[in-house]
Amino acid sequence: MKQRIEEVKKNFLRQELASPDLLEKFRLQFLVKKGEINSLFEEFKKLGKEEKKEVGQLLNNLKKEAQEKYDQAKTLLGSGSVQKEKEEDYSLPGKSVGQGSRHPLSLVQNKMITIFKEMGFSISEGPEIEDDWHNFSALNFPENHPARDMQDTFFIEKDISLRTHTSSVQVRVMENCAPPIRTISPGRVYRNEAISARSNSFFHQIEGLYIDKGVSFADLKQTLFLFVQQFFGEETKVRFRPSYFPFTEPSAEMDIYLGTDSEEDYRLTKGTGWLEILGCGMVDVNVLENCGIDAATYSGFAFGMGVERIAMFQYGIKDIRTLFENDKRFLEQFKALG
Ligand code: DAH
Repeated sequence: MKQRIEEVKKNFLRQELASPDLLEKFRLQFLVKKGEINSLFEEFKKLGKEEKKEVGQLLNNLKKEAQEKYDQAKTLLGSGSVQKEKEEDYSLPGKSVGQGSRHPLSLVQNKMITIFKEMGFSISEGPEIEDDWHNFSALNFPENHPARDMQDTFFIEKDISLRTHTSSVQVRVMENCAPPIRTISPGRVYRNEAISARSNSFFHQIEGLYIDKGVSFADLKQTLFLFVQQFFGEETKVRFRPSYFPFTEPSAEMDIYLGTDSEEDYRLTKGTGWLEILGCGMVDVNVLENCGIDAATYSGFAFGMGVERIAMFQYGIKDIRTLFENDKRFLEQFKALG
């Protein structure tokens, strides 16, 4: 009996339990009711008292050791360390991480930039943290203008704020470059407004500036008209309405005609058929002088438009906040467009 126990022990110690199959084979051979160890216990019952004393301990140890070996191998396989090494197939193709797509705001902004670039406009940028001079004073904002109010502007400290519009870049360009100037300035701007489906505390604008000798309002109209035809289509109708901005004189707003046929167009245009897309005007003489440009020799026009507004109109986006949530399901809808 002792010898049999030794043999079984030797036998199971030799086994390598490196896969689930081998593990199962081990269990069936040694640990189940009809396995080798249990059959030794059956024989054990038939032994005499003295012999039982001698063999009992050995048999119990044998069972314990077999069970331990099995449990250890099982844990190891379960944690994957043995299995991984054996089963990794390095010849399989890699897993795809998926391809991203352009954000709708980038799509719209890039299209705008391309159109103005083709007309000969350069691109200029300025800081998002701006001083009072570039954001307000140089642009002819009176001391008590409501736009300077705490309610609209995020102040960082006295006279330093997050820029409320990209018109601040106009000032920087005029201060640093001699005319002729033909530039657009895309960028992010900030307003301290209640966040809703129609307004967010930050958004994007594209500012335009053209300064040269003899620039007139007719040039302004023609430039913007050309832009609209290229961006929205040849047939697009536009109109200019008189308006007011501190930094332009005269000032205007430009609308494009959508009509009121669809419910959506009616809602967007508040029943008028016209959608406002930008503000513009002839650069105020005070602004030219503030920026060191001789207003007796040079004149110019400026314009500014909101990118979100146009993107929302173009793609039928109802809530501005969806543009900033980075929800993949929303963004993937624009995959085909760029
Ligand atoms: N800065 C204006 C705004 O944020 C937009 C604007 C209007 C820019 C008229 C201009 C302009 O350059 O001439 O609402």
